[in-house]
Amino acid sequence: MLSSIKVFAPATVANVACGFDVLGFALHHPGDEVIMKLADHKQVIIKEITGDDGKLSLQAEKNTVSVTVQQYLNFFGLAQGVEIWLHKKMPLGSGLGSSAASAVAGLVAINELLGRLKPTADLLPWAMEGERVACGSAHADNVAPSLLGGMVLVRSYSPLAVCKIPVPAELVAVVVNPHLELSTAVSRGVLPKEIKLSTAVKQWGNVGGLVAGFCTSNFDLISQSLQDHVAEPLRACLIPHFQAVKQAALDSGALGSSISGAGPSIFALCRGEESAQKVAKAMSKVFENEQIGCNVYVSAINQEGAKIIG
Ligand code: HSE
Repeated sequence: MLSSIKVFAPATVANVACGFDVLGFALHHPGDEVIMKLADHKQVIIKEITGDDGKLSLQAEKNTVSVTVQQYLNFFGLAQGVEIWLHKKMPLGSGLGSSAASAVAGLVAINELLGRLKPTADLLPWAMEGERVACGSAHADNVAPSLLGGMVLVRSYSPLAVCKIPVPAELVAVVVNPHLELSTAVSRGVLPKEIKLSTAVKQWGNVGGLVAGFCTSNFDLISQSLQDHVAEPLRACLIPHFQAVKQAALDSGALGSSISGAGPSIFALCRGEESAQKVAKAMSKVFENEQIGCNVYVSAINQEGAKIIG
């Protein structure tokens, strides 16, 4: 049996405009790395966290990676000692699924170290509990694509049912992450508990259209459907210059653009790498002109998800 392992779990773009809490996709980069070792003691211990500017707690009960690993061990009644090194390779509170990637990497690591007690897809409920620790809501639209890769639809939460949606190979994502933090809890807090039926009808039409567009490589349909009538109108004001960045993406040829997860990152989907590079430049220029630094990621859809890298 392995005693040490290194796992990478990718960043993700949740919601994908119209699919609040039900659609998400994985990027090739950035992502988090977890190194895990089995130990002789009986505790789950975080030995080190890097890349977080000291913001995350080393206390096991306060970190998504250790909490989810502990829950996994509890499920099997195992008092196994575990030591964790977490290397954050993406900003926190960025809308890139940072807490999700850490939880997913930890779960894949412990599952592998213990001889795969569960198939990978069955790790999802534990990863969702990690989201509850991070922001108070056990949504799956970041953890599912980080774990499984690809464009993932959460068809149902109760019972949990997810499925991968095929996407055209030419589809390339741009994500621009301004150097601002926005907590998911705050971003969820501005949303209403209920929405109007007429709003829901528009949103359903777009979710169906987007999935159909992905499945049939219909770029016009993808473009028409990348619209959010539920979360974006209420969250846009939390992200400085959101409308200008989105407009820059559309003006330079993006199929569509919206908030990445709970923000403040903004994503665009593009047809082909060349278009994506042009869109990335236009979007980042808006932030730069406003003296706001940003990271820019250009990535095809990562179909692999979390993977063992050492
Ligand atoms: N679907 C979630 C939200 C993603 O928009 O709040 C958060 O990462």
